[in-house]
Amino acid sequence: MDGLRVLSLPEAEVPRELKLQVAELQESAWPSGPAGPGPTADPVHDPALRPRSLLLLSGDRVLAALDLLSKDLDHAGHRYAASGLSAVVTDPALRGRGHGRRLVAAARTAVGESGADLGLFTCDRGLLAFYESAGWAELPGAVLVGGTAEEPFPSDREGFDKVVVAAFFTERARRRRTDFPHRRIALHPGLVDRLW
Ligand SMILES: CC(C)(COP(=O)(O)OP(=O)(O)OC[C@H]1O[C@@H](n2cnc3c(N)ncnc32)[C@H](O)[C@@H]1OP(=O)(O)O)[C@@H](O)C(=O)NCCC(=O)NCCS
Repeated sequence: MDGLRVLSLPEAEVPRELKLQVAELQESAWPSGPAGPGPTADPVHDPALRPRSLLLLSGDRVLAALDLLSKDLDHAGHRYAASGLSAVVTDPALRGRGHGRRLVAAARTAVGESGADLGLFTCDRGLLAFYESAGWAELPGAVLVGGTAEEPFPSDREGFDKVVVAAFFTERARRRRTDFPHRRIALHPGLVDRLW
C-alpha cells in the first residue's frame, strides 16, 4: 500500500480545494494565455456530457487528474453508450513515476464498470504507448469527428497528429469492433468539448 487513492466524482461535486489544484495542473499543461480565465474552480466541461473527474490523491494533494465524458454514439447503423478521457494531466514535478498510467488504467476500469459499451478518445501519436501501457488499444486509421454536424472538428485536421484509442466492453460492442478501424466516427460532442 502506497497511501495513494483514486477519487471519482461528478465534475460539479469535486471539492473546491481539489478542483483548484486540478485547474492549476490543467493550466500548466494547456495555458489559457494572458487573456484567458486562468485556473478557476468552476466546471469546465459541458454538463450534457455528464463529466466525471478521476483524481489520484496523496492525502489532499492531487498527483494526477482526468475527466471522463460520455454520450451516445451513432455509428455504422448502431447506437452505443460511449465515454472518453479528457484533460489527462500529471503534476509536472511528479511525472515519470507511473501516476498517469495508474489513473488512465483506473479510468478504463471505471468506464467498463459504468456499463458503457465502449471507451473512445484521441491522443497525440507520441502518447500512444503511454495509453497502450494502461490497457487502451489503437483503432488504426480511425478518425474521431468532434464538434457538431454543422461545425465538425475532426482528429485528422491540418496540424494534428492524433490517433484514436479505444476499449470495447459490452458483448454487442465487441461483436462490432471491426466497424471502427479505418472509419470516420462522428462522435459530435459539441462545441465546448470539441474533441475529447
Ligand atoms: C502524459 C502524462 C499525463 C503522463 O503522466 P506520467 O504520470 O508522467 O506518466 P507515467 O509515469 O505513468 O508514464 C507511463 C509511461 O508513459 C511514458 N510517457 C509519459 N509521458 C510521455 C510523453 N509525454 N511522451 C511519451 N511518453 C510518455 C513514460 O515514459 C512511461 O513509459 P515507461 O513506463 O516505458 O517509462 C504527463 O506527461 C502530462 O501531464 N503531460 C502533459 C499533459 C498531456 O499531454 N496530457 C495528455 C493529453 S492526450
